[in-house]
Amino acid sequence: MCGIIGVTGRPSAVADIVAGLRRLEYRGYDSAGVVAQAGDRLGVVKRAGKLDRLVEALDGSPLEGAVGIGHTRWATHGAPNDENAHPHLDPTGRVAVVHNGIIENYRALRAELDGAVFASETDTEVVAHLVARELDASDGPDLLEAVRRVVGRLEGAYALCVMSDREPGTIVVARQQAPLIVAARDGVGFCASDVAALIEHTDTCAALLDGQIARVRAGAVEVVDADGAPAEPDTYRVDWDLSAAEKQGYEHFMLKEIHEQPTAVRETLLGHDDGAGNVLLDDLRIDPAVLARVDKVFILAAGTSLHAGMVGKLAIEHWAGVPVDVEVASEFRYRDPIVDARTLVIAYSQSGETIDTIAAAEHARDQGAPVIAVSNVVGSTLARMADGVLHTRAGPEVAVASTKAFTTQIVAGLLLGLYLAQRRDRLFPSEAADVLERLAVLPDLVRRVVEDDAAIVAAAERFRDVGYTMFIGRHGGLPIAYEGALKLKEVSYLHAEAFPAGEMKHGPIALIEPGALVVAVAPDDHVFPKLVSNVQEVRARGAAVLAVATEGSRAALEPHADVVLTVPDAPLELATPVLTVLPLQLYAYHVAVLRGADVDQPRNLAKTVTVE
Ligand code: G6P
Repeated sequence: MCGIIGVTGRPSAVADIVAGLRRLEYRGYDSAGVVAQAGDRLGVVKRAGKLDRLVEALDGSPLEGAVGIGHTRWATHGAPNDENAHPHLDPTGRVAVVHNGIIENYRALRAELDGAVFASETDTEVVAHLVARELDASDGPDLLEAVRRVVGRLEGAYALCVMSDREPGTIVVARQQAPLIVAARDGVGFCASDVAALIEHTDTCAALLDGQIARVRAGAVEVVDADGAPAEPDTYRVDWDLSAAEKQGYEHFMLKEIHEQPTAVRETLLGHDDGAGNVLLDDLRIDPAVLARVDKVFILAAGTSLHAGMVGKLAIEHWAGVPVDVEVASEFRYRDPIVDARTLVIAYSQSGETIDTIAAAEHARDQGAPVIAVSNVVGSTLARMADGVLHTRAGPEVAVASTKAFTTQIVAGLLLGLYLAQRRDRLFPSEAADVLERLAVLPDLVRRVVEDDAAIVAAAERFRDVGYTMFIGRHGGLPIAYEGALKLKEVSYLHAEAFPAGEMKHGPIALIEPGALVVAVAPDDHVFPKLVSNVQEVRARGAAVLAVATEGSRAALEPHADVVLTVPDAPLELATPVLTVLPLQLYAYHVAVLRGADVDQPRNLAKTVTVE
């Protein structure tokens, strides 16, 4: 996590850096800082807290310079205070560093610098010390060479931006398991954690690959590998513009992104239907014969993506008839998963940068498994390492709480289920054509739900202070129960948990007492009668019940629930989760707003988690 940006060759680099940090703040917001060079010295301003605190400080003491680097932090080593805020400098103030990642051997490196005085508790500061020492070496290396020597000694994950007063106008960057892009345009050079930070300047960038180091100067970028030999980064274009990364009149990004779901779902469905009952997944690039032979699937993911993966499991097992395990990515590689060339791994990640998910996918690939990435970010690390990609087309998601990425991931899972079924001769074209035709109405159904939230607002007002909420569901409703609980705790900080409805009687029901709230995800599906019994069990014990129904289940639920939020009937049962999650996203949003929480930047969280 942490967001980093560098700009060189602009009259006032600091203004561009602050604007870029604003778009990177979703990566962490414990502190922010900037360093710029004017004349022959580096000037630094950094503050604990959100970016606005840095902006206030810069108003009081403006920083000039045509070159600079900036950072927004999600704290790992050291408290989120001014001292630990990046940039970090060497003791002479001549080298400045910003960093995303963790330098795992920083203690050993610090110990080597006998007698050096450190100004922070961070793992990063030692890099500034080491680069400064290299620059003083008798053979007089330039900044690129000094950084190359230092990163050769680092263990862990890093995206680093380094500048020195000895080479005005130059920024040197290095990447190892943390995203970093570079770009040059119209006499300006840029580097950043992701393209969102640069979108007002360019839509074409190059992602550095692990081990690469780049020298960024005004209008020019030069990339070398770990040995210093010229190297090629991975150049790509993004197909969205600045307006996609702005709030466009919505009070919060989360609300804007909830409302973007009709378009996001439509875009994700687009182009995958050949009109003759064949699902087209052009970027998959995996030999159909390999997919036909698969005898087991692992879906690996974290957070909201994990819940989308749970729906993917239902679709793949139903249509393709192959067993699927959904695994928390951070657990997968530390046990002994049984993986071989007949195992297919599908890694879901909105950002494509979650280190746990990437590492788990790499672990499986090392054992011969083909890997498919379901990612929302073109050119992401996961998309590049995978054998094949299915891009969700949600557009940039900025709010920390994921919404439109989730519904598009579910759609992607449905497409994958159909595609695998066809590779395995389990579905006739006429059957697939029927499913695709039904799915085509989903965007309009999504629109109907998100455009009418009056009943959801009323529910949020009624239950806003309930201290404990239990979410329950079965089958396709269970992933939505998990996701509903996650949304509520993420943005409102209320205690929420989800359970399979049938498991309640084995323990969780002991938590129910008068005053508790149970949210039941209760669409009109084949497990609905069982779920109604579970709802009655909690109601009998004094819980209030908020039910999410479909039109087909509403009447049967009304006698058993205090509030029923209704979504349209889905065109097929497996697509129902795309609709039932919507009221729960809006419910969490409105509860959080009513409670005065910081919806887009919840405490302690970050959107892209690039540390283990
Ligand atoms: C973080 C975010 C979540 C997200 C998860 C996985 O925890 O706060 O919203 O679901 O990471 O992110 P990914 O980019 O891999 O989908």
